[in-house]
Order: sequence, then C-alpha cells, then structure tokens
Amino acid sequence: MNVFTVAILGCGNRGAESYGRIFMEDARFRITALCDPFTARLHAYGDLFGVEARFADEEEFFKQRRADILVIATMDRDHVRQCVKALELGYDVLLEKPITNSREELLSLLEAQKTYGGKVLVCHVLRYVPAYLKVAELIRDGEIGRLVQIDALEEVAYWHQAHSFVRGNWRSSEETVPMLLAKCCHDLDLLQYYAGARCESVSSVGDLTFFKPACAPAGAEKRCVVCPLAETCAYSAKKIYIEGWKQAGSPARDFPYMQLTGEYPLTEAALEKALETGDYGRCVFFCDNDVVDHQVAQFTFANGVKATLTMTAFSYDCARIIRFFGTAGELTLDESRDTITLKQFRGGKKEMSISGLNQSSFGHGGGEFGLIDALYRLVSGDKESATTLSASVESHLMAICAEESRLRGGTLIKLH
Ligand SMILES: NC(=O)c1ccc[n+]([C@@H]2O[C@H](COP(=O)([O-])OP(=O)(O)OC[C@H]3O[C@@H](n4cnc5c(N)ncnc54)[C@H](O)[C@@H]3O)[C@@H](O)[C@H]2O)c1
Repeated sequence: MNVFTVAILGCGNRGAESYGRIFMEDARFRITALCDPFTARLHAYGDLFGVEARFADEEEFFKQRRADILVIATMDRDHVRQCVKALELGYDVLLEKPITNSREELLSLLEAQKTYGGKVLVCHVLRYVPAYLKVAELIRDGEIGRLVQIDALEEVAYWHQAHSFVRGNWRSSEETVPMLLAKCCHDLDLLQYYAGARCESVSSVGDLTFFKPACAPAGAEKRCVVCPLAETCAYSAKKIYIEGWKQAGSPARDFPYMQLTGEYPLTEAALEKALETGDYGRCVFFCDNDVVDHQVAQFTFANGVKATLTMTAFSYDCARIIRFFGTAGELTLDESRDTITLKQFRGGKKEMSISGLNQSSFGHGGGEFGLIDALYRLVSGDKESATTLSASVESHLMAICAEESRLRGGTLIKLH
C-alpha cells in the first residue's frame, strides 16, 4: 500500500478538524507539516497529530515542498494564489471550495494545472455522500424517465446564517465570495452533475433584507452579553454559543463553538471572553455584514434541463431539499425528513432513509470519507475517481454568473 504524506495549510474547522482528523486515522496518509498564523490552533493540532514541522508564516512554509499532498483550507480569497504556488512546487492539492469568485483566476488555475501537471481535487463533499450518489443512480437508471426539471432548496438555518454570514467569516462581500458561491457551490456542482450537461444561462435575484440596523428591535444593544433582550432573542450569542455548547455536551472542540476561540479544550470562560470582545458576540442587527440573506436562481442546461435553486436564511433546519421531475415520475431528497422518495406515474412509491444510506453522521453524512478516498485513488493514478478541476470551474461559473445577474436586477446571463 502506498502511503502519501500530507501538509495542511489552514488548520481551522475544515483543514485540521475535519480532514486532519480523517488523515490522522487513515493509514494510507501521514501528516508531516502544518501551517497557520493562528499559533494557538497550530500548536493544538500539531500536538494532536504529533507533527513537529509547524509554520506560522506562509512564506516560510512555501520555501520548499513539505509533502506529497497539500490541503488548502484557508479563507476563500487565498485559494488560487496558494494553489498555484503549490502546483509550482509539485504538490497534488486538496483544495477547499470555493476556488474563487473571479473568472480570470479560475482560468489562471486551469492554466497552472496544465503547466505543472499536479492534480487538484476541489472539496465538493456532497458528490461522495451515499444518499446523493443514490439519487444520481436512480436518475441514471431512468426511474423517473427523462429528467426535465430540478427544484433545489438550501435551508441555511437562522443560527447558521447569523454565525457564518452575519457575524463570521463570510459576512462581507469585499472580503469573501458571493453567498451563493460560499454556501451553495456544492448544490451548483450537484445540479450540473444531475442535469448531465453544461449550464448555458442563469438569472438570479436576492437581497439582504433582515440583518441590518433598521430591523433591530427597540432597546437592542450592540453586544449580546449586555443586551436586555438576550433572553428572548433567537439570535442571542449567549443562547447560541454558551447554552448551545452546553446542550451539545460541552465538547472539547466542535463547530461552531471552536471558531470563537483558539483555546483547546473549549471552556465556558473562553467562550464568554470571546463573546465580550470578539466578532461572534455582536448583535446580528449591528454587524458589518452586507451579504444576502435569501436568493433565488434559475439555470438552463445545454440538454434543455431547467433548475431552480433557492437559498434562505429563514429556516429552522439546516437542510437541503431537492426535487427532480421527470417524464415518468418524481424523486425528492429531503434532508429535514431524512428521506428519498420515488413516485412513479405508472404506480408505485418507494421511500428510503438518507441516514440509512449514509451510515455515518460525521462529515457531511460520510461525504468527507468518500472525498478522502477519492483523493487517495486520484493521487494513486485513478483519473476517474473524482470530480475534475474543469467540472468544478464550470459550477463556479454558474455562481459567478448568478451573482452578476443578481447585481443587474435578474438579467439573463450566458455562461460561455
Ligand atoms: N467543503 C465544505 O463543505 C466546506 C464547509 C465549510 C467551509 N469550507 C471552506 O473551507 C475553508 C476554510 O473554512 P473553515 O471553516 O475551516 O475556516 P476557519 O476559520 O475555521 O479556518 C481557516 C484557517 O485558515 C487560517 N489561515 C488564514 N490565513 C492563512 C494563511 N495565509 N496560511 C495558513 N493558514 C491561514 C486561519 O488562521 C484559520 O485557522 C473556506 O474556504 C471555506 O469556504 C468548505
């Protein structure tokens, strides 16, 4: 068995907590180097993974190649720059999504891959989740006849919107990519995969309608720890991060709590301190956010299949519901009900349990294990094992064009 060495750039929730932990337990990989300027985190994971080579400075890290594979799990805006450097050094790369929101950067990355020849696998984890693969199989087997339309709903969940897109990393359109790309690039990847053709055109509308000062209730304070409304507010940081952490069993580290502080193991005192001074303790109506809280997009594919995608902050669940309409039946994948339902017009209804198919609740229903497995096969030479970089570039173009359309009031945009 070949064993591949792995370096991790960006030791946060994705790089270290998700993939690092999987690599640590998988005998086919060995983690040999870590890089993160957040030194508390760097050393916590360095100790956990037993890795000596730790770099707080990206330049130092990139002075030479440190492993066979580089995991890039830094913030969105750094991905292409770092991936091009990695390819130059001869790495194969596991690259977190989104790649970028710039067409030019997408093309420059494809060019760099052509020049240096390394493999790049973008982390479209849902492609490797058993339930999502089952849907592809049912469509491919003609269970609903010819696929005509797809109707996808991404329920972000009120608390997750507040965490990531109001208080957190993806709140500012200046600093990060459009929300459809940040939150829905897996959905867009799936839409083109299920449609079975390239997307030709898109139009989209959406706004920031609620998380702004004009919607703040009377008497709201700028920080939840001193707010008189904290007991009754659904978005209270105390409720989400302190009570939520306790209700989750006070985990040593877990999303979203670990993003508030570099302390490991997490403690109530560390979370409280973060709420007093950090970004995540701010009132959701008084943050520096400007990204949308709901958006609708519609797509036409080259084979005539149409799709709509709705993303909303205003949901209780954090779930995807996707309906497929064909000439002989319909198929629904509903994460909130944990079901895949097939109804055929000639008669017959079949229901499957998503969790039964997935058999793992860790890491996107087992998709992360599937992704790492695909990575292993890809670096071992099996080109068919994983999504290609050019397919990932296509789904990113869908999001980039959807945002262009949104900013132009819903105008129809051609992708190519
Ligand atoms: N595939 C998925 O399903 C999925 C889910 C969530 C997030 N993501 C993506 O994963 C990436 C990371 O997100 P996260 O949730 O882990 O964020 P995070 O904030 O938990 O981790 C990012 C880490 O990168 C570090 N970092 C910043 N600049 C760096 C640099 N120059 N060199 C090295 N490290 C640096 C930060 O200090 C931080 O520890 C983002 O691009 C995000 O969009 C993907």
